[in-house]
Amino acid sequence: MRIVALVSGTGSNLQAVIDAVADGRLDVEIAAVGADRPGTGGVERAAGAGIETFVVDFGDYADRAAWTHALTQKCLAYAPDYVLSSGFMRIVGEEFIEAFDGTYLNTHPALLPAFPGAHGVRDALAYGVKVTGCTVHVADAGVDTGPILAQRAVAVREDDTEETLHERIKIEERALLLEVLAGLAAGA
Ligand code: GRF
Repeated sequence: MRIVALVSGTGSNLQAVIDAVADGRLDVEIAAVGADRPGTGGVERAAGAGIETFVVDFGDYADRAAWTHALTQKCLAYAPDYVLSSGFMRIVGEEFIEAFDGTYLNTHPALLPAFPGAHGVRDALAYGVKVTGCTVHVADAGVDTGPILAQRAVAVREDDTEETLHERIKIEERALLLEVLAGLAAGA
């Protein structure tokens, strides 16, 4: 199973995948790692692991459609079985969703459909929920929508800040992501 991973940030989820592949726990080939801007930790981690990387910088394109077209072409060139949004904080246009219909995966740090969007952890905390968690799902054209593949719950503590809660969620998120990828690689 070949995947292309897309990142915008530090790439700790991606690192978990890289490590699992490297030590033989996950039978997946990471064909490439791409980002929507230069200088992401995710691309640095991938390059450090000898994985091919690319940047399709949102700022270099006239509009979302033009950027989406470039990103779609770039990803298609690797012929991936799945494209993984691993903290990819950019809404992709219709062309991308159509090209990777049913094979674009996303991880989100909340129990969808609750708290979609860029601030899922902050929003859950502000609402006052006692349990939140993480979701791995097939992404469609919406914001954090599409069929849910797996979820894990995380209890909110009285003294949690957005940072402490997000760190605990990310521990579960990484494990969940590996579980889902292993399942898909095994043909589930
Ligand atoms: C993850 O919690 C992801 O779900 C969210 O941002 C975080 C990315 O972290 N969208 P990292 O870049 O994998 O460290």
